[in-house]
Amino acid sequence: MSLVDEARAVRENAYAPYSHFKVGAAVRGRSGRVYLGCNVENVAYPEGTCAEAGAIAAMVAAGETELSEVAVIADSPAPVPPCGGCRQKLAEFGRHDAPVTLATTDGKTLETTVGDLLPGRFDAGHMGLA
Ligand code: THU
Repeated sequence: MSLVDEARAVRENAYAPYSHFKVGAAVRGRSGRVYLGCNVENVAYPEGTCAEAGAIAAMVAAGETELSEVAVIADSPAPVPPCGGCRQKLAEFGRHDAPVTLATTDGKTLETTVGDLLPGRFDAGHMGLA
């Protein structure tokens, strides 16, 4: 199954009773294994989590800290752009050139990369750690 199709399938499990905007995300770890996430909302709205955050958490919980590829899908008019916080989360674990496919449920796609999603990102070098 393609990474977009993996994201499409997990999107069905999204818990989005407030926005009614279901999102699915799939990340491939360096091992080749695929990790899935969906958005999980909360009645205390800021406590909700994005699909990308869930997929990244699943990858890290499985013992991987590098992603090689990402797919995100939603039922939106144009391929769904990850929020700013998720761009920073993806940048933590993905190389600049890691491919990201943004998709709509009706088949539109936009190909980008982790680096292009967050130019000028804050990274370990800014803390003198890199
Ligand atoms: N959302 C995601 O899960 N990922 C994105 O890339 C964009 C937004 C979720 C958060 C919230 O549950 C809903 O979509 C509406 O913002």
